[in-house]
Amino acid sequence: MGELKDASAVGEYGNPICGDLMYIYIKVKKQNGKEIIEDISFQTFGCAAAIATSSMITELAKGKTLDEAYNITRNDVADALDGLPPIKMHCSNLAADALKDAIKKYREKEK
Ligand code: FES
Repeated sequence: MGELKDASAVGEYGNPICGDLMYIYIKVKKQNGKEIIEDISFQTFGCAAAIATSSMITELAKGKTLDEAYNITRNDVADALDGLPPIKMHCSNLAADALKDAIKKYREKEK
């Protein structure tokens, strides 16, 4: 949890309905032609489910390639938490979409 000072990119995603906001920081290292998420952290201004899903996505994405991390879905995050109440499923979107945003921004920077 917290800001990653030497992040390669920062993703941002907010839910305009509830007003919650999440930042995902990724540090990418290149190894054997692959881009690996070496470190990852989050800052979340939101509900308990948003904080739990932020934390879980850092566990799921750390050590993965960018392609693998990009394919993590909100259902993967919810499943890793042993489920979320249906009314809280939208909160897991924040984590998956903020991570995707970080990866997109990293790739744009690398072009
Ligand atoms: Fe806004 Fe959970 S209520 S993300």
